[in-house]
Amino acid sequence: MILTKNEERMLDGEEGYAVKKSMEILVALGNIYGAEKLIEVGSVQVAGVSYHNLGDAGLEFLNELAKDGKVKVLTTLNPAGMDLENWRNLGIDEEFAKKQNLVIEAFNKMGIIISCTCTPYLIGNLPRYGEHIAWSESSAVTFANSVIGAKTNREGGPSALAAAFVGKTPCYGLHLDENRVPDTHVEVTAELSKFSDWGALGYCIGKGAQSKIPYITGIKDANVDELKTFCASVVTFGAKPLFYMKDITPASENVQPPKEKITITERDIQEAYNAINDETEDIDFVCIGCPHASIKEIAQIAALLKDKKISPTTEFWVATSRPMKQLADKRGYTKIIEEAGGKFACDTCMAVAPLKGRFRAIATTSAKGCYYSRHNMMLTKMGSLEECIDAGVTGKWS
Ligand code: F3S
Repeated sequence: MILTKNEERMLDGEEGYAVKKSMEILVALGNIYGAEKLIEVGSVQVAGVSYHNLGDAGLEFLNELAKDGKVKVLTTLNPAGMDLENWRNLGIDEEFAKKQNLVIEAFNKMGIIISCTCTPYLIGNLPRYGEHIAWSESSAVTFANSVIGAKTNREGGPSALAAAFVGKTPCYGLHLDENRVPDTHVEVTAELSKFSDWGALGYCIGKGAQSKIPYITGIKDANVDELKTFCASVVTFGAKPLFYMKDITPASENVQPPKEKITITERDIQEAYNAINDETEDIDFVCIGCPHASIKEIAQIAALLKDKKISPTTEFWVATSRPMKQLADKRGYTKIIEEAGGKFACDTCMAVAPLKGRFRAIATTSAKGCYYSRHNMMLTKMGSLEECIDAGVTGKWS
């Protein structure tokens, strides 16, 4: 890789330990993937925030970098292992909270904005069309590449942090237009009649595309919430973190549909539900907000929960970003949800919180949520918001 004089200087340690270490990571990555140079990034989103995933070794790595590391561009965080304010109410133990707070302290010292969310694009970290960025979380990366039209690889936690300290990333993969060409045409003939159908569609396309870039036709309309749950699902189940959706995503006008074609029918959608849903009637956990819930989704939850009570045998979470919760407070949605017995899980989510062994069966609207809940040893049910609210109120899946 060809480095500028300034980049050589950083690699030699003239800007301190964190920048030197970061340059070593970026140069190694660039060499592995055949990048010719580093390119400037407009923003960074760092994953690997939960102490549950980092452990003491990860915390030590962050503390080393935090000694002299300061980010050079707008940098936000992925969800942490707990609600940073309300962790006790979510059943997080004292020892975990102490360690998680140390992780957050390290990120704070680096100048990173402590907005622990996988939907940074809903709360102010919104890239421009065509802008190079270095984001980590797979659903956010897919949303940024496909819906916004920005350019990012799916960074690991350390490479995203390195990009934040240097303000640059190696120019390879999805930063190059020649690697952003769709290579499989997916025609959707299925009607998407409820919200969770978007997660099921992501499952079908992810499995069908397998490491390819889908060019999707047949979708008549899609809102931001539907696209964000689709992004989470399609990349979780196999596709590259980029797709084109004819007449919906902006860059789809600039590319041609590939010859290779698969079709997704109603039957495929039904099969996706069969694969995602386990046999269980009892539900002891409901979590909405994967990816983190938007204000519109929170409004829908509040409307459905009004004058209802969550079953005493069921825990009900709304996972969202803190700014979204603050908006929900102002609009009265929080009061309705909490009066019904629901809880807000800000800054965290069902995948990165230490939940293994705590719940037996989850109901959620999200296919990705189901995928990670199985890792946490839960049985899973995916359905519409109405079905999930009903499961919360009755403790049963009907
Ligand atoms: Fe976000 Fe967690 Fe889902 S990071 S996409 S809420 S698994």
